[in-house]
Amino acid sequence: MERSLINMCNSASVLFCTAILTIVFTFYILNYPRTITVQEYSQTNIVTRHYENVSRSCNLFKGQWIPDMRDTLYTNFSCTTIPYRRNCFFHGRKDEDFLHWRWKPEQCEIPRFSSKTFLSIVQGKTMAFVGDSLARNQMDSLLCLLSTEETPKEVYKDAEDRSMTWEFPKHNFTLMALWSQFLVSATETMFNGSATGSFDLHLDKVDRNWSEKLPFIDYAIFSDVQWFFRQHYLYEGSNLIGCILCQVPNMTDLGLNFAIKRAFQAAFKQINECKSCKNIFTVLRTFSPSHFENGTWNTGGGCNRTQPVKIEDVIGRDSNWELRKIQVEEIETATEKGEYLGNRFEILDITEIMGMRPDGHPGLYGGNTWMTGYSDCIHWCLPGPIDVWNELLLEMIKRQTYSLN
Ligand SMILES: *[C@@H]1O[C@H](CO)[C@@H](O)[C@H](O)[C@H]1NC(C)=O
Ligand SMILES: *[C@@H]1O[C@H](CO)[C@@H](O)[C@H](O)[C@H]1NC(C)=O
Ligand SMILES: *[C@@H]1O[C@H](CO)[C@@H](O)[C@H](O)[C@H]1NC(C)=O
Ligand SMILES: *[C@@H]1O[C@H](CO)[C@@H](O)[C@H](O)[C@H]1NC(C)=O
Ligand SMILES: *[C@@H]1O[C@H](CO)[C@@H](O)[C@H](O)[C@H]1NC(C)=O
Ligand SMILES: *[C@@H]1O[C@H](CO)[C@@H](O)[C@H](O)[C@H]1NC(C)=O
Ligand SMILES: *[C@@H]1O[C@H](CO)[C@@H](O)[C@H](O)[C@H]1NC(C)=O
Ligand SMILES: *[C@@H]1O[C@H](CO)[C@@H](O)[C@H](O)[C@H]1NC(C)=O
Repeated sequence: MERSLINMCNSASVLFCTAILTIVFTFYILNYPRTITVQEYSQTNIVTRHYENVSRSCNLFKGQWIPDMRDTLYTNFSCTTIPYRRNCFFHGRKDEDFLHWRWKPEQCEIPRFSSKTFLSIVQGKTMAFVGDSLARNQMDSLLCLLSTEETPKEVYKDAEDRSMTWEFPKHNFTLMALWSQFLVSATETMFNGSATGSFDLHLDKVDRNWSEKLPFIDYAIFSDVQWFFRQHYLYEGSNLIGCILCQVPNMTDLGLNFAIKRAFQAAFKQINECKSCKNIFTVLRTFSPSHFENGTWNTGGGCNRTQPVKIEDVIGRDSNWELRKIQVEEIETATEKGEYLGNRFEILDITEIMGMRPDGHPGLYGGNTWMTGYSDCIHWCLPGPIDVWNELLLEMIKRQTYSLN
């Protein structure tokens, strides 16, 4: 699975796929800062908390990384569920500076991740990360962050270690990773008896791997982009309508962006049309940039920086920024359609934030045994800057829970 994901980044266009572009989120309604008091129901008693200055007027995703000397919230000792391939220190990474930065939005402060707050909000609920190994990367970060409050219990894992379910019994909270490379239904094409790595994508049919779980889910975090970077055939109904990244005579190359747009459209349509579903809080986590330098993954490219770069130094602002734009557009469309149904759609816009963190990848410390010397500049070390995805997710959930919109 990882091999194929890295293969996919074989295209130079994925390198440093970040850019600077200001998008005004039209669905961001301004609000005055205010202090609110809420009652949280914990297992045994009601706890009253005060949240100051939580306001939708603050764009969480515009800001900068600033030094932060505090210890990380977890380590590879305190968190026993860090996957082998994300445990960079276990594989010999020595520099620790990359752990000592925090994200500071321009107009507000975000508090440190609080596992207490998170678990008290999601009590009795189910949260699912739907997507590929980067979706799983975020779930693994959340598992570690929450395990400081309650030790999670694994209740399901598929044979390939892709989809899994964890429970936090004291908080009656269920956390899932649902493996789906494309969000839509896909079958790998075979050639002469072996898998080709190329898929038939059914753009009007969502992948049952996640859609059948939908009625049980309260929070769904969708991502997915990496697997689209190769040759695939696109179907609508039973008709082959074209392909992506292909050079097949008499077949239209509809382009990567087209396929990605249609996949997210299909996913959000499914949510808005699901009669047996609750009001799902849906989050789209935008494109996570990779940072190969001095070559691609298979031509000696690597990522051994030890510090963030400034926003003006993020290089390679190429056409892949377009992917993020498409994702923003699709969430806006879904928001409009979902509004009267009571469904909430939000964007977890980490593309620019992570573009500044070439220092956060495993690089040569990803325990890559099948191809030594190759760097992983796609996934993120745990602990590491990816933990901010869940810090931001918590802020979004707080805003939703306390209706600060
Ligand atoms: C909240 O906002 C007020 C006024 O805007 C400010 O004086 C105060 O320091 C803020 N509190 C925090 C915790 O940021
Ligand atoms: C944790 O990291 C240290 C280096 O900081 C490493 O020596 C150790 O093997 C790691 N332990 C585990 C359990 O991953
Ligand atoms: C756990 O949460 C579910 C869904 O909200 C609820 O039906 C169930 O009663 C809860 N169980 C306990 C033990 O609180
Ligand atoms: C659905 O999950 C199974 C088992 O994890 C996996 O083999 C299959 O590739 C998944 N389907 C899609 C379309 O991702
Ligand atoms: C198909 O596989 C057979 C046996 O592995 C091999 O001999 C043959 O060359 C392959 N054909 C093509 C077209 O790749
Ligand atoms: C492409 O389409 C044209 C017209 O339909 C047909 O004459 C030609 O044989 C096709 N070429 C291939 C390679 O299928
Ligand atoms: C890439 O090349 C530059 C200049 O030669 C060097 O400073 C940098 O460390 C290299 N990075 C990697 C990951 O090899
Ligand atoms: C990164 O790798 C390049 C090439 O291997 C090397 O020249 C450079 O010194 C390395 N930089 C750091 C910070 O280790």
